[in-house]
Amino acid sequence: MSTLKINGFQINNICCIGAGYVGGPTMSVIAKYCPDIIINVVDVNTDRIKSWNGDYKYLPIFEPGLSEIVKEVRGKNLFFTTDVENSIKKADLVFISVNTPIKTSGIGAGEASDLRWVESSAREISKFAVGHTIVVEKSTLPVKTAEIIKSILLSSEQNFNNDDKTKTFSVLSNPEFLAEGTAINDLVNPDRVLIGGEDNESIDALKQIYSKWINQEKIITTNLWSSELSKLIANAFLAQRISSINSVSAICEATGANVIEVAKAVGTDTRIGEKFLKPGPGFGGSCFKKDILNLVYICKSLGLNQVASYWEGIININNWQQDRIYKIVVDKLYGNISGKRIVILGFSFKADTNDVRNSPSIKICRQLLGEDATLIINDPKVDKKIILNEINYDNRYNYKIIYEKNISKAIENADAVLIMTEWEEYKNLDWKNLYKKMRKPSWLFDTRSIISFEIIKETDLNFWQLGNGESI
Ligand code: NAD
Ligand code: UDX
Repeated sequence: MSTLKINGFQINNICCIGAGYVGGPTMSVIAKYCPDIIINVVDVNTDRIKSWNGDYKYLPIFEPGLSEIVKEVRGKNLFFTTDVENSIKKADLVFISVNTPIKTSGIGAGEASDLRWVESSAREISKFAVGHTIVVEKSTLPVKTAEIIKSILLSSEQNFNNDDKTKTFSVLSNPEFLAEGTAINDLVNPDRVLIGGEDNESIDALKQIYSKWINQEKIITTNLWSSELSKLIANAFLAQRISSINSVSAICEATGANVIEVAKAVGTDTRIGEKFLKPGPGFGGSCFKKDILNLVYICKSLGLNQVASYWEGIININNWQQDRIYKIVVDKLYGNISGKRIVILGFSFKADTNDVRNSPSIKICRQLLGEDATLIINDPKVDKKIILNEINYDNRYNYKIIYEKNISKAIENADAVLIMTEWEEYKNLDWKNLYKKMRKPSWLFDTRSIISFEIIKETDLNFWQLGNGESI
């Protein structure tokens, strides 16, 4: 069997701790392009591992192109397991790809990263690793986290009966830039791969893995701290563009301008660029909010309060945009939605994913339920159980939430339809016929700018489109 050989250090075996949205797809792609390397993806969540090993149609994560790759490599060189100990023991390189949410209590609650899963991973590695192990931070982490990981690993190096010097570590940072919904394409054709570290031999070892399918010029190497920080800053910059265009959407509504036209006019300047200028109900997902909050916390910890409030402004606009949409819906329906039937089209935080973490739909649905509306919710990929779990806490809205797979049925007798996610199936709905099923006066709210105003003009629908100053 051929192996990667870097100045005597061979990578035959990889362990990835965390079989989530990042660990699962990333390891599947590495397995595809490095058939000679055995990869064990481990997780403490037994249900998740069970479904990674189950029917390809029901993998725990929906991601276009993922099941095809898993089908190709699972059981050959890619394995999903709960056996953390043996997977680490066999590994030459361990990715830490665990969750890093925001702390909910204690020092830094609401802003700082909760590093308990990263620390437990480092402790597991230090306990079970054998020989030289490259430890790679794949999770998004506060700058300087590698210091904590190194300290845990170093204590085990020192405690180990190290006469034969077999238990040694080096730590790299290799943040992941994939976005959900396009994860496979992002992994196969990334804009860049970032590797931060101090030890060239280990950097080269990781570089060689990526070089199997990615052009060398796209692999950027930096010091550890630049790499850790760059991931937070990249997400902050992306989110900043969304908050910027969303702030502009409100100006457009007030002035008769159209945010799509403005975004195009502005984005065609190559210095600005056209990507990430789509207006909407605010960014959701597991990353942007938590990473910016974490950046804000780091700035405050460093005494950089002006810098902290600069980045905090991005979150404030995002919250404001969601509140604004909720208030507009209530206002247009005569300030009273009690007992009114509102159809929610889309519950995932963006199209092409079943992930609902921080989805704008959650907040807006909760607000509408708080006004005593009845919600009929449709999403092509999100399960009813997950939706109810997010908005029907304490079973308090049992009779107020209806989950409906059939869009035409959902719309029957509805007072309003609110498009929250830009799913393909919502783009070309037959409004000329659908609106006839609704109670009059009926409203269509398009927060994703996916509906053609020209088609709506041929109906009696009242239409509000985010950032479109010409819609009502
Ligand atoms: P996730 O919650 O989907 O998956 C993390 C998994 O790690 C969970 O299944 C959990 O059970 C497991 N885990 C935690 N501690 C463990 C331990 N000690 N041993 C074994 N398993 C353990 O999270 P995710 O979305 O994959 O994100 C992982 C990291 O990657 C986060 O830091 C996130 O910020 C970052 N990231 C996420 C995305 C994304 O699109 N989701 C993109 C880039 C970076
Ligand atoms: C993001 C980053 O893009 C990715 O690089 C990082 O690794 C993880 O976080 P993700 O959250 O999966 O990825 O999706 P992304 O496409 O960035 O969308 C995030 C949110 O912003 C979604 O709610 C999306 O609808 C919204 N968005 C995105 C807009 O409102 N307008 C845009 O122009 C782009």
